[in-house]
Amino acid sequence: MQVNGVALRPLRALPGRQGLEVIDQRLLPHRLQMRPLHSARDVFVAIREMWVRGAPLIGAVAAYGLALQAGRDASDTALRNTVHFLKGARPTAVNLAWALDRVLAPVLGSPEATRAEVAWREADALAEEDVAVNHAIGRHGLGLIEALAARKAAAGGGPVNVLTHCNAGWLATVDWGTATSPIYQAHAAGLPVHVWVDETRPRNQGASLTAWELGQAGVPHTVIADNAGGHLMQHGRVDLCIVGCDRVAANGDACNKIGTYLKALAARDNGVPFYVAMPTSTLDLAVADGVRDIPIEERSGREVTHLSGRTAAGEVVEVQVVPDGSPAANPGFDVTPARLVTAFITEHGLVAPEAAALRALMKPAG
Ligand code: MRU
Repeated sequence: MQVNGVALRPLRALPGRQGLEVIDQRLLPHRLQMRPLHSARDVFVAIREMWVRGAPLIGAVAAYGLALQAGRDASDTALRNTVHFLKGARPTAVNLAWALDRVLAPVLGSPEATRAEVAWREADALAEEDVAVNHAIGRHGLGLIEALAARKAAAGGGPVNVLTHCNAGWLATVDWGTATSPIYQAHAAGLPVHVWVDETRPRNQGASLTAWELGQAGVPHTVIADNAGGHLMQHGRVDLCIVGCDRVAANGDACNKIGTYLKALAARDNGVPFYVAMPTSTLDLAVADGVRDIPIEERSGREVTHLSGRTAAGEVVEVQVVPDGSPAANPGFDVTPARLVTAFITEHGLVAPEAAALRALMKPAG
């Protein structure tokens, strides 16, 4: 996607394979800054401290982390240890393990002298595939927005109002985003679309990242408090919800940023379709029951007790919003049961939130 008219991705490989550069997402929307990563340890820190975040992007950056390690010590032990180490950076998004396992297999199958080359090639391929997958998700989601736009035009007009949660935009992927890809494609096709952007406490990925992305692309949007979605749905002001996901279980339960479940409940109560944009790299058939078994990241209570923002003087500061001594809990994700999901928007098309349909998705074609 573009920033100030210039094409930009949240990660790019440095010349000569010396490392990679990532956008430090902790600084947005107030500052756009790239940071270099030169080792698997740098990559671990960038993922753990959320310079990079979003399930597909975490996977792609980790894949390059393994390639960096292969350039230093490509022995079986070193590579396996690095995979184990990087998998521990964040627990919920399955794309992290998926990407590392995908790069590791062909690397271990190659002679040691060629392993760095094989790992870089595989990481590059994975990153480019992510772009293609997200573009395909956008094409399939576009059909949903087109149908709603036609229905609204027949009923007197007005934009299609999409509600989204957190940031499942291009900053969370290598490009396009998952939940935002249909929105960007609808906007490019000239369809009237407006996005309700949940602020997404406690880290505010909606207010700081999704709103920034949409603004850069010129997509009409409005940031809302997380608690506003139910009210808007009751009054017919949301036509559909599209959210991303971090891990989808074999039974169709979908894990995403904390607060997604409440939006799905409100959507069901108000007859609003609730779509989950899901690259198949986020499907984890090894987890049978998502509500019961998907590991949920517990994050620091400080994200709840403190807020950061820019003062009128332009300085970014952190302030405390709770009384001294009040403890805070901070589960980072929740799981929306399959029964509340209208469909998954995948790179292969719309898929029902049912075990058989999800299993079929993972079967090789032919
Ligand atoms: O904690 P984060 O910011 O990594 O959480 C991100 C989300 O929950 C996204 O919705 C999800 O990873 C999908 S990204 C296409």
